[in-house]
Amino acid sequence: MNAALLSVAGAGISYGKVEAVRNATLSVGADEIVTIIGANGAGKTTLLNAIMGILPVSGRVAFAGRDITRLDIEDRVAAGLCLVPEHRELFGTMTVEDNLQLGGFRVPRAKAAREQERVYALFPRLKERRTQLAGTLSGGEQQMLAMGRALMSHPKLLMLDEPSLGLAPLIVADIFRTIGELKQAGVSILLVEQNARAALEIADRAYVMELGEFIMSGTAAEIGGDPRVVASYLGFQHGGDDAR
Ligand SMILES: Nc1ncnc2c1ncn2[C@@H]1O[C@H](COP(=O)(O)OP(=O)(O)OP(=O)(O)O)[C@@H](O)[C@H]1O
Ligand SMILES: [Mg+2]
Repeated sequence: MNAALLSVAGAGISYGKVEAVRNATLSVGADEIVTIIGANGAGKTTLLNAIMGILPVSGRVAFAGRDITRLDIEDRVAAGLCLVPEHRELFGTMTVEDNLQLGGFRVPRAKAAREQERVYALFPRLKERRTQLAGTLSGGEQQMLAMGRALMSHPKLLMLDEPSLGLAPLIVADIFRTIGELKQAGVSILLVEQNARAALEIADRAYVMELGEFIMSGTAAEIGGDPRVVASYLGFQHGGDDAR
């Protein structure tokens, strides 16, 4: 693919002396959904956090044609990068609307109002509940709010860390449908998911991470058809249409 939107080359990320991610190379093109699948502790969250600038990284991270390896988080958000973190990290004692406005605090007011309407169009449930405290939302609604808050900064690339975590299959289907709609609206997606089956259904390309390294990459169809992936990640997965 030419001119990737995000390109990570030879990334190494350590916690003290412990190297959690080694030599990770990955790209996400414009209008692409790319997924990273891997077991617990593989290093997926670590990599997303480093791309966002929360953790320092060796190697090179480029975004929208510029080197952002040393940029701070705020400047990465301004450049069009946004992360919905694994544990959503909402402000529980604030309303839905206030949480959204925090997501758009850097955006000029008129633009923030437009973004908010777009978020409400994408998640009508949030509009109905705009005065409700975030901490009292259901798990699915909290995930919608976390995504909505990230979208307030009008990202070019949205990174999602385990959006289906703890959610019932019907809600997961809803969230994944929304991810597809975001792609249609021109937002590229980097998706980390334990629910590999659902992720591979929606993704264009996939990477498999084991013990801090990418061991495989390819189109979602190639990865989904690989016998090792089937055995390790698709064998007896719950969720999606497959709940039993
Ligand atoms: N703050 C930290 N300090 C030290 N080690 C950490 C820290 N955060 C993560 N690790 C370690 O780094 C490795 C990768 O963790 P990470 O959270 O990136 O995995 P993951 O692939 O996101 O797993 P999961 O699927 O469970 O979310 C693990 O061995 C983990 O114990
Ligand atoms: Mg994780």
